[in-house]
Order: sequence, then structure tokens, then C-alpha cells
Amino acid sequence: MMYEFTDDYLTGVEQIDNEHRKLFAIANEAYELLKDNFVSDKYDYIREILEELRGYTKTHFAHEEEYMDKIQYRRRFSQKIQHAEFIKKLEDIDLDGIDENQQETLLEILDFLANWLVSHIKKSDTLINK
Ligand SMILES: [Fe+2]
Ligand SMILES: [Fe+2]
Repeated sequence: MMYEFTDDYLTGVEQIDNEHRKLFAIANEAYELLKDNFVSDKYDYIREILEELRGYTKTHFAHEEEYMDKIQYRRRFSQKIQHAEFIKKLEDIDLDGIDENQQETLLEILDFLANWLVSHIKKSDTLINK
């Protein structure tokens, strides 16, 4: 497993932690696909992962924002801006352009996702319940 969900990522809110685990699982799925040399055409798989990621992040952000509103978390506005930027970035990935550049697209998704997991979950989400 490339991306491991360790205690550093825990927020202490069970539902949020479980959703973060799922995001790690999607990142690992993308990594496995990147490494897989037996699949020559990865287009459908990339599409599936991207759609899963788009859908799941929206669900997760909605839950997390609901929780932050409920506890009147004082940094919730900057959180919401970061969430919106992440969604925008995922939506900007152009699936039509993938065919020629499958590995590059996968790498791009992974870089961006891994960076998000570390920077946003570890540095921002873990503060929510403190
Ligand atoms: Fe989160
Ligand atoms: Fe967040």
C-alpha cells in the first residue's frame, strides 16, 4: 500500500475519519493502476477512478461542512474555500485528452490527491475537532 492512513490523520470524528480512509483507498487504487503494466488501455479505469473521486469528495465535503457548521468551527470558511478549489481542480481534468497521455494523467491525479491528503487532511481537517 502506497498511501497509509496513520494516526496523524485522525480527526477524532468517526464518520469523517472513515471517509478519509476511503479517500486513501481511492488514492491507492489510482497508484495500483499507475503501476499496472498488464493493462495497456487504462482509459476506462482512469475514468472510473476519477468519477469515484469526484462523487466521493462531494459527499465527504458536504458531511464535513455540515459538521463544521454544527459545531460552529471558526475556520470553516477557509475550509469551504479549499474544498471548492479541490472540486474545481477535479472537474478541470479533461477526460477527452486522456487517451494519449494516460500515465501522465494518472500521475497528475495522484500527485494532486496525495498532496491533498497530506496537506489538507493532516494540516487542516485534524484541527476541526480540537
Ligand atoms: Fe476532509
Ligand atoms: Fe476539509
